[in-house]
Amino acid sequence: MDCKIVTIPGDGIGPEIVREACKVLDQVGKVYGHTFSYTEVLMGGCSIDAYGVPLTEEALNKAKQSDAVLLGAVGGNVGNSRWYDVAPNLRPEAGLLAIRKGLNLFANIRPAYLYKELADACPLKKEIIGDGFDMVIMRELTGGLYFGERHTEEVNGVRQATDTLTYNENEIRRIAVKAFDIAMKRSKHVISVDKANVLDSSRLWRKVVEEVAKDYPEVRIEHMLVDNCAMQLVMNPGQFDVILTENMFGDILSDEASMITGSIGMLSSASLNEGKFGMYEPSHGSAPDIAGKDIANPIATILSAAMMLRYSFDLDKEADAMEAAVQQVLTDGYRTVDIMSEGCKKVGTTQMGDLIVTYIK
Ligand code: IPM
Ligand code: MG
Repeated sequence: MDCKIVTIPGDGIGPEIVREACKVLDQVGKVYGHTFSYTEVLMGGCSIDAYGVPLTEEALNKAKQSDAVLLGAVGGNVGNSRWYDVAPNLRPEAGLLAIRKGLNLFANIRPAYLYKELADACPLKKEIIGDGFDMVIMRELTGGLYFGERHTEEVNGVRQATDTLTYNENEIRRIAVKAFDIAMKRSKHVISVDKANVLDSSRLWRKVVEEVAKDYPEVRIEHMLVDNCAMQLVMNPGQFDVILTENMFGDILSDEASMITGSIGMLSSASLNEGKFGMYEPSHGSAPDIAGKDIANPIATILSAAMMLRYSFDLDKEADAMEAAVQQVLTDGYRTVDIMSEGCKKVGTTQMGDLIVTYIK
């Protein structure tokens, strides 16, 4: 198979971790007989430096013409970077929102999984962790508060700002379908998270999710209020299989879910359109303070590349091989500094990538 990938290394540690992921992909290509070709484009702070905007039309078009996009991370230190001295729509993160919208990536899949080897890094008590947890958050990514009409004005001498939260039934239905489809391949349990005791958009969300659920009689569906969900995540994380939720709630809950794995450097993500096209990126940020030091953990990006093989290219066997290689380096005791613990062998970004390459079978 020939796969045309657009890479967006981005800012901070982005270039280092994308480089390692491409190295591992190339090895998978060698072993399984595929070619991955890469076209690099700029997004975020590096694009602001080069072109004055966080995402150019040309970069977006290149992404549109590719088979899939692999992204590192964008952004710098807020408050301590020239990239933030400009209007909000010209900052690095605006590039991210623009590419999500421009590529119609409405389905954001964020797995949160507790690796047995890293259980000590989990901040929860042993009795709460139990047998561990393995959930995916299905976050709506192109609607809601993020993309609603907003403005700031002065009313009778008082400053006032407005953001609007709108969802139509089609936007809710298509993300719900993705969540139920994923649940069918997992433990067949969807918890849809909303704030239906207050918000109209959540009441519609709940109705449409119920309608979609009728097409999936094998899947158990529950509804949970978002505040309760935030609590349940740290009280009984093992109860979750697929969490389905809107954009803003998903943003917040996915940070919480990643924190309880104790290893945000390990978490991958995928953002998909209606079909097979997707953008794949680690769940963590650009970590500008550790950029260029060869200490960043490349595993989240490598696992994101594995998701790309699975969701965009239907290369399940190859994705399994990548995930197994990551599992093997952990079992053998290799750790980057963020997941280091006593008795393990500390390695840098490049060496971690090299090890995973050698474990691809
Ligand atoms: C994320 C990030 C982004 C978001 C920011 C950088 C705009 O927090 O991907 O979760 O809020 O979606
Ligand atoms: Mg976030």
